[in-house]
Amino acid sequence: MIISRRKFVNSIGIASGAVLLAHFSCAKRPVGPVIYPEDWERVRRQFDLDWDYVHMSCFHLASHPKPVKQAIERHREGLDENPLRYYRENAGVCEKRVRLAAASYLNTDYSQIALTDSTTMGLGLIYTGVKVRGDQEILTTEHEYYSTLESLNLRSLRTGAELRKIRLHNGSFNTSIDEIVDNIYSSINPRTRVVALTWVHSSTGLKIPVREIGEIISNTNKSRVDDDRILLCIDGVHGLGVENINIEELGCDFFSAGTHKWMFGPRGTGILWGRDDAWNNVVATIPTFSGSGTAGQTMTPGGFHSFEHRWALNEAFDFHSSIGKEQVEKRIHQLNTQLKEGLRNMRNVNLHTPMPEELSAGIVCFEVNGFTPNEVVKRLEDRYIIATTTPRTYKERYVRLAPGLLNNPSEVERTLAVIREL
Ligand SMILES: Cc1ncc(COP(=O)(O)O)c(C=O)c1O
Repeated sequence: MIISRRKFVNSIGIASGAVLLAHFSCAKRPVGPVIYPEDWERVRRQFDLDWDYVHMSCFHLASHPKPVKQAIERHREGLDENPLRYYRENAGVCEKRVRLAAASYLNTDYSQIALTDSTTMGLGLIYTGVKVRGDQEILTTEHEYYSTLESLNLRSLRTGAELRKIRLHNGSFNTSIDEIVDNIYSSINPRTRVVALTWVHSSTGLKIPVREIGEIISNTNKSRVDDDRILLCIDGVHGLGVENINIEELGCDFFSAGTHKWMFGPRGTGILWGRDDAWNNVVATIPTFSGSGTAGQTMTPGGFHSFEHRWALNEAFDFHSSIGKEQVEKRIHQLNTQLKEGLRNMRNVNLHTPMPEELSAGIVCFEVNGFTPNEVVKRLEDRYIIATTTPRTYKERYVRLAPGLLNNPSEVERTLAVIREL
């Protein structure tokens, strides 16, 4: 979504006349608003982070920007003052507002969006409820995060559904779109009912070509009846809030993502999106309290939630939309390219994230010769830089850095300087 620069500046709450003038007097400017370095500083000031640190790991759990924080506070006060009355007066309208904001950000219809507490919850709902017959199989890969693999394992335990795991590549750094798509294509057989994948791998930073995979699946589906149709299900958490996509064009049938990572949404929030004609392949697992008018409502788990968080989620989508999806993507890719270029040229570093932008997003994974990943993370933290290692559930143990909207080029340089010294 491209927005006016004025709307962007207003949305982050600080007038910027001088910069605006500079922008509009620019004789030759690219299509769309230009975001200047000082604008990104204004974005950073929306967060109450400890700025003594370089936060290269905000992709784990979001810090709340001011509009999100204020909305949470507003709802909390209302609920504390008169819980039931506030709930009755706000539940319907607030939930719909969140789903509308998510739909507008993703360019889809709000009826297709269910609200969850996390990526994991959405994946659990899909992999528990998706209709797979005993003679069909679920195809996944060795590169998935625990949430996908364990949801699928649990399903196998319950129903005996067959689960097959494949490798997508022989090394993430040098892989290609063709290698990944070919491996999926050659692994699909007439029994394949579900293909369960993660968009951006948190083990290596590899972004898989979902659109191209969606195309081969859609071609295969042309010769299949509805009950045999392959459903492409995606853990999208490390792409949402980074990549400039319209979800309908991504090519998947289901997409689960926490909104408490790259989206800066309230902690404990997420969305589950389904293609309009895919929802009838899934049965809800948890009874909804949201009504039954749309698939998104039916699939939204019921029970009382931490409503002050859930109802503030629209602010996070609006925050991102006001910056502009195009600008967000460009900025995150620029910072990641800067980091990867720097690491690639260090003799002591082994980079595992591919260089091309079409195969990477906001996570960079690497090893430093002579150091364990934990030692590197410790050395960085000693210099006030927050990094992480890949979780123990993965075979690969690497250092992870994730430059995002809360970082700037000089922080990337500062991080590279520490790694260079190792
Ligand atoms: C690929 C991937 N999926 C899912 C998760 C978990 O997300 P959530 O906390 O939203 O369930 C993580 C890490 O936290 C992850 O790396």
